[in-house]
Amino acid sequence: MRCVVTGAAGFVGSHLGEYLLEHGHDVVGIDCLTDFYDPRLKEANLSLLQRHDRFTLCREDLLTAPLPYLFAGADTVYHLAGQPGVRPSWGAHFADYAARNVLATQRVLEAARSVRLGKLVYASSSSVYGNAETHPTVETLRPQPVSPYGVTKLAGEHLCELYRVGFGVPTASLRLFTVYGPRQRPDMAFSRLVSAAVHGTRFELYGEGTQTRDFTFVADVVRAMSDAARSDFTGVANIGGGSRTSMNEVIDIVSGLAGSIEVHRLPTQRGDVRDTAADTRAAFEGFGYVPTVSLTEGLASMVEAERLASVAA
Ligand code: UGA
Repeated sequence: MRCVVTGAAGFVGSHLGEYLLEHGHDVVGIDCLTDFYDPRLKEANLSLLQRHDRFTLCREDLLTAPLPYLFAGADTVYHLAGQPGVRPSWGAHFADYAARNVLATQRVLEAARSVRLGKLVYASSSSVYGNAETHPTVETLRPQPVSPYGVTKLAGEHLCELYRVGFGVPTASLRLFTVYGPRQRPDMAFSRLVSAAVHGTRFELYGEGTQTRDFTFVADVVRAMSDAARSDFTGVANIGGGSRTSMNEVIDIVSGLAGSIEVHRLPTQRGDVRDTAADTRAAFEGFGYVPTVSLTEGLASMVEAERLASVAA
């Protein structure tokens, strides 16, 4: 099958691309390598995909790319590209979030109308919930984002639902809960924490460390995306890791795996939610989703990857 992955050079996009290539699919990656973080990291992610001759890269911006042409003949479009990051989405930066998460998604959906897709999988986010009233949180709870980022991811999701109901575009929006694993974005907590532990540098902890997350290992996420694409499921589903853990507990686990960490405490950041926890019954019923990688196993793989990278450097 021919698959298109937008954001193929990113953290989750590059893992998804590898998974699809290893499962025999042809993959067209669309990515313009924005500079939200060092594009050299994205080049390195791409080099893993470019080892496969069934991978093609289109270095294009979704806001201008000839999407109907790029989607022609594709069975599935996985739409992961966007402006990431909860905490930097305030102020003047919001224009990037609106353009890359809302306008770009609308262009993807318009193009999807013009071709016959088996599925359009949209990478939504747990940040759409904001400070949810109940945990684990079900998809039917009214989303009330507390960051501009969350507002734009929710807008993208609403657009997917609009085109699904209005035009029959077979969209599946997966609300991903704090994805982690090797090659995690460098602005995210685990990437910084593992680097601090392995290299003996300081980790800056926002708030008291009592905030909790349903951390989800990237291999579980990419399998969920592929399984959703191959199922009859359309609509919205949570994808979580199956446990809820505080940052203080995470710091203890990483210290146990890689050595003690110097923690520098900073105030809670604007836009951060207090807690997240996914009710994953819709994903289980829709496409058999069950998370398989425990937090300790997943963190151990990050520590190992960081050690290998520092030996190679
Ligand atoms: C993550 C991603 O960054 C979003 O793109 C994604 O949409 C979101 O998950 C989601 O699940 O919806 P976040 O949960 O903030 O957002 O993930 P991390 O950056 O790993 O932060 C986890 C916790 O660690 C937060 O409470 C954050 O404040 C804290 N943190 C983060 C630190 O204490 N120090 C840091 O250097 C970074």
